[in-house]
Amino acid sequence: MGQMEHTNNTREAYMRQALQIAKQGEGWVSPNPMVGCVVAKDGEIIATGFHERYGGFHAERNALLHCSRDAEGADLYVTLEPCCHYGKTPPCTEIIIEKKIKNVYVGCLDPNPKVAGNGVRILREHGISVETGTLEQECRKLNEVFFHFMEHQTPFAAMKYAMTLDGKIACETGDSKWITGEDARGFVQRLRHRYRGIMAGIGTVLADDPMLNCRMAGGRDPVRIICDSRLRLPKDSQIAATASQLETIAAWNREEALRWRAQQALQDPAAGFRTSGKYPEQAMRQLDADRQALEELGVSLLEIPVQGNGDTKQLDLTILFRELAKRGIDSILIEGGGTLNASALQSRLIQRVYAFLAPKLIAGANAKSPIEGQGIPKMADAILLDQIETTQYGRDFCITGRISTPPEKEP
Ligand SMILES: NC(=O)c1ccc[n+]([C@@H]2O[C@H](COP(=O)([O-])OP(=O)(O)OC[C@H]3O[C@@H](n4cnc5c(N)ncnc54)[C@H](OP(=O)(O)O)[C@@H]3O)[C@@H](O)[C@H]2O)c1
Repeated sequence: MGQMEHTNNTREAYMRQALQIAKQGEGWVSPNPMVGCVVAKDGEIIATGFHERYGGFHAERNALLHCSRDAEGADLYVTLEPCCHYGKTPPCTEIIIEKKIKNVYVGCLDPNPKVAGNGVRILREHGISVETGTLEQECRKLNEVFFHFMEHQTPFAAMKYAMTLDGKIACETGDSKWITGEDARGFVQRLRHRYRGIMAGIGTVLADDPMLNCRMAGGRDPVRIICDSRLRLPKDSQIAATASQLETIAAWNREEALRWRAQQALQDPAAGFRTSGKYPEQAMRQLDADRQALEELGVSLLEIPVQGNGDTKQLDLTILFRELAKRGIDSILIEGGGTLNASALQSRLIQRVYAFLAPKLIAGANAKSPIEGQGIPKMADAILLDQIETTQYGRDFCITGRISTPPEKEP
């Protein structure tokens, strides 16, 4: 093995270790990136560190504050460019300079405009040799959420569903527990820990009464977001009943909620109704009461405009995503059902798909499929995935990939 090859292998081995360490911050650092750092001197690792919690010290500082020996002249491997600005913590470039590090190896540059190459520049200006791009692709993939959020200011979204081998997500009867086995469902809990928000349509809440929490030991619960334009979320649903403990947002629309209540009131001959404006008074009173009850349970109500016409009006998901981004939600796991999945795909809001495939057949022309909507008329226009990975969990498979290009045609 040549000297050059040896050096490359060593560099990559240290960076791989830094990547492994970084993953310990998964779920806890958002909307910050996961970052890992390894400090090596004379062929020996003298410190490691990672960004542990949002607001806490960055990986480089965590490593450099706990070196087993003097770090002067050491090499530092870090998965993301060191920061150079005062945020919640002091800049990492300062401590790297102060500790007299000789060489810095950076996995990938930070897309944050406050850093974006400035961290590297400052280190070089202080005589430190900096090399960028070691395992760059792996380092970027680790933080696909952070890169997307920084570049687009809207949450990174992954659509997750479990289906039978004949492409159904529930039986014709509506029964859907469970499609996949324990191992696959265990991985889903990890995804719920990893993503900051979890989103479902009111159809799923009414059909399944899910909790949408994270049941992984030591995991973090995602913020639950229910798309519910008419505000039908039942007060005795598991979601509403636990909203004081688990952050819950119901995205709704006042006009749709009133229209629906007005229709209900009209259909109830016993109630009789009076109207002094566009909607019967009962509808307005009912809406006020429903809103108050949900808010008292701890549900945050987020009013969102609708798009579409007549009976096909639906919440504008692009606006909803923007509002969620303002609340610091950098990533969303969309757990359907098929109606919501179709809208999210059509709005081009999905970056990744996790499709769980169970070796079971349930048949039924009316059994629901993972993505409903209008569908794409021609196979040649199918939405493609790339960077495909397949993993087996017990008897089930998970296929994941990135949506390669924005869909040209509506699904
Ligand atoms: N196997 C799986 O992985 C899996 C996962 C989830 C669900 N499921 C199954 O899926 C079924 C429910 O699916 P579903 O298609 O009936 O309901 P859904 O997609 O869960 O909810 C659809 C409803 O969400 C509301 N909504 C608000 N904004 C929307 C928007 N922009 N786009 C789409 N919907 C919006 C609409 O009701 P409003 O007009 O009232 O707002 C709409 O009718 C259940 O049987 C459940 O078991 C399976």
